[in-house]
Amino acid sequence: MTQAIADKVVMITGASSGLGEATTMALPKQDARLALCARRADRIQSLAHQLTHAGGKAMAVAMDVTDHAQLKQLVDVTAREYGRIDVMINNAGIMPQALLERVQIGQ
Ligand SMILES: NC(=O)c1ccc[n+]([C@@H]2O[C@H](COP(=O)([O-])OP(=O)(O)OC[C@H]3O[C@@H](n4cnc5c(N)ncnc54)[C@H](OP(=O)(O)O)[C@@H]3O)[C@@H](O)[C@H]2O)c1
Repeated sequence: MTQAIADKVVMITGASSGLGEATTMALPKQDARLALCARRADRIQSLAHQLTHAGGKAMAVAMDVTDHAQLKQLVDVTAREYGRIDVMINNAGIMPQALLERVQIGQ
């Protein structure tokens, strides 16, 4: 993994929690250059700070993936900062959950 990701520019959407945060933390800290995105700026900034402190390269871009202009800005900012984008982890999303007993059938 370390060799494969060495010097790659990795963009991760939904990096502020859950699978995106776990994926971010699982990447080798010193090797990849990361662009972390989510709406909760404080969380991705804190994550970027932790990674940078550990010797890695990470930047936080607060944005909403449902807004096309903000998505384009994420790509532009990442490409400007790191020169290119090698990997896009398109993870941001929601998974609504509800109790089965509250599902209304046939209405
Ligand atoms: N966990 C599962 O069992 C499971 C199963 C199948 C699929 N998935 C999918 O895997 C992905 C991650 O799931 P998870 O369990 O890790 O969920 P999670 O903990 O709720 O994380 C979702 C991430 O997406 C970000 N996000 C949501 N809407 C966004 C938006 N409009 N713009 C930018 N960022 C947005 C959230 O950040 P902010 O709120 O800070 O924006 C958060 O970082 C989701 O797409 C989910 O549908 C999960």
